[in-house]
Formats: sequence, C-alpha cells, structure tokens
Amino acid sequence: MATIDIQGVSKGYGSRRVHADLNLSVQHGECFTLLGPSGCGKTVLLRLVAGFEQPESGSIRINGSPVSDPAAGINIPPDQRDLGVVFQDYAVWPHMTVLENVAYPLKLAKKQRREMEERALEAVAMVGMKGLEKRLPSELSGGQQQRVALARALVAGPSLMLLDEPLTNLDANLREEMRFEIKELQRKLGITVFYVTHDQEIALAISDRLAIMDGQGRVRQIGSPQDIFERPADVFVFNFMGIANFIPVRRVGDDWLVGQGDQRVPVGRPDGAGELYTVGCRPSDVRIAASGPGLRGVVRRASFLGAMMDYQVEVDGVIMRVALETHEAIAGGLMFKAGDPCALNFHDLLWFDSVSAEDTGGA
Ligand SMILES: Nc1ncnc2c1ncn2[C@@H]1O[C@H](COP(=O)(O)OP(=O)(O)O)[C@@H](O)[C@H]1O
Ligand SMILES: [Mg+2]
Repeated sequence: MATIDIQGVSKGYGSRRVHADLNLSVQHGECFTLLGPSGCGKTVLLRLVAGFEQPESGSIRINGSPVSDPAAGINIPPDQRDLGVVFQDYAVWPHMTVLENVAYPLKLAKKQRREMEERALEAVAMVGMKGLEKRLPSELSGGQQQRVALARALVAGPSLMLLDEPLTNLDANLREEMRFEIKELQRKLGITVFYVTHDQEIALAISDRLAIMDGQGRVRQIGSPQDIFERPADVFVFNFMGIANFIPVRRVGDDWLVGQGDQRVPVGRPDGAGELYTVGCRPSDVRIAASGPGLRGVVRRASFLGAMMDYQVEVDGVIMRVALETHEAIAGGLMFKAGDPCALNFHDLLWFDSVSAEDTGGA
C-alpha cells in the first residue's frame, strides 16, 4: 500500500498562517493533484510530507505509519519515508554525469557498486535517456535534465512520488509530452503520485483526483477532473478552472431578473430561497444571435482570435463574454461588431449563492 494521510495539519511562518487544520488523503495507486494559485502553500505542504519541514500540529501518515506527529514526538527523516521527490528547479548536480546523478541516492544508502550501477541504468532507461549516461547536465536540454531528476527520484524504487511543479520550467510542447510520460510511468510502475501545480491544464490531464486549494490554503473541492470542471463546488473553483461569466440576478416575485434590469434569466432557477444569486457560465456556453428570443444585449467589443471570435456583450449593465468558432460565426451570419444589438441564450447555467469579489478572488 502506498498512501498519504494528512490530518489536521497546521503550519505557519511568523505571523503568516499557511495551513490551518488541513486534511487530505491520497489513495493507493492514484495520481492525486493539489491545484491552487501561486503562494497558497503547495510547496510547503510537499515539504511537510517529504519531511523537510515539521507541522506545528496534526499528523502525517505514509503507508499507514505516522511520519510526522509533533504531539507524539514523531519526526521520521526524509530518507526513511520511502518517497521520491522532484522539485521545480530539478537541481541535478552539474559536476556529475547523468548516471552518477541518478545513482546518488543509492550511494548515500551505501549500496554495492554493481547493484547501484544496474539500478541506475534501469532508471535512466525508464525515463527515455538510454545512451546519454555519460553526459554532463550542461550537455542536456531542460527537459532532459528534468528526466534525470525524475530518474533519480525513481531509482530507489519508492512506492510514492512527490512532484512539485516539475514541468513549469519547460516550454509548452515539452510540457505536454512530459505530462503524458509521467502519467505513463505512474501507470506502468503502479506507484502513487502526489503532484502539486498551479496549472489547470496539467492537473486536468494527469489526475485521477484533484483538490482545489484557494489563496488562503483552504481546500474547496476534491473530485475527478470531470467533477471539478462540470460540477464546481463554488464560485472560486468555477472561476479558477477557466474564463467565467458571473451574472448577478435578483428575485422579483416569481421571476429571476438580470442585473438591475427587467429581463428574465432564460434557464433554470436556484434550489435555495434567497433573493440574490449569481449565475455562472463559460463563454462557450453562451449562444449569440442577431435577434429572436433570449436576453437582449449590445456587443461592446468584438475580437477576432483566429480560430475563435470573442465578444463582450452588455445586458442591462452586465458584461458577458461570448466565444464561438470563427467558421461557425461566418457560416451563421454571426460576425458582429461593436454597437450591434444581439440576443443571448445559454446551454447551461450554474446557480451560486450571491458572491462578493473575495469569493472569486485569489485565482
Ligand atoms: N521558509 C519560509 N519562511 C517564511 N515563509 C515561507 C517559507 N516557506 C514558505 N513561506 C510562505 O508560505 C506561503 C506559501 O508558500 P508556498 O508553499 O511556496 O506556495 P506555493 O503554493 O506557490 O508553492 C508563502 O506566503 C510563502 O511566502
Ligand atoms: Mg511552489
């Protein structure tokens, strides 16, 4: 079994509280991602799990055994936690060859020379670097150096891997390639991965489950990528996962009206009994027409983005983003310019309790 259990963990520096009573569990064999804005405490949490930092209170268990528990006086050192760790700035040693870098953890563990070499060669091959064993890091690309860091984390055969934004320093193409490779390795080796990142796309692509953390270190939602994207728990999650329209609505009698105007919201109604709500939708979930039923609005800005048209439409003082494919816009006679009247309809609307700027902030 390879699991992580974080229970009631608190950690701060001086007056800055980073984590307060945090709970998270990573299950055996899964790729679990912690996704949150920069500065929310992702690296601090990984350092706590790895044992480079101690929590002030709470406990961390790895594979069911406590590794950090200040109340019980437990603090297992990093090299006895059965973990592989890769940090953002991969930190391979410049004066060592690829093979020496990868073998280093085994050398520290005082393994026999022969075993050391065999296992290091195997780990190098695993990350697709066969034939480059004798190179120095200065003779490698950024992506190759990150592979060396990955091989070094895997060489001791850990059941758990901690990855801290390992792809951030790579260019876009390489990032996409490497995220597939990490996922493949995880499946092939059957290891458990705890991955932290601020990058929504990576998190959606590689995770079995993910947790969304806000700027204050609070976990807002845990679920599958599809859960998070299609059924966001709150406005913060919805906003953090992509461009979002937030439309304030108010109850007047049995009707739900947009902004301060007199037009009815065309789809759905809230479950609750409040007077004020916010409805959310993605720009691609809005359908725009020149006339007809729906919310009457005026195009305030029209942007041609190549494959997409991006409109800002004002409806009774509320600005909404609308996106559609350019070929669809041309075929449908939907090439608007600023000042054109239009009508909006919606594929889907999510109803949230009325929100303040603070609820959506931090993203
Ligand atoms: N050693 C430290 N001393 C003081 N403050 C720290 C230390 N490490 C992290 N912090 C603070 O903790 C917060 C979270 O940092 P971090 O975990 O690095 O965020 P991120 O989610 O971007 O990885 C930040 O406000 C950071 O300044
Ligand atoms: Mg970080």
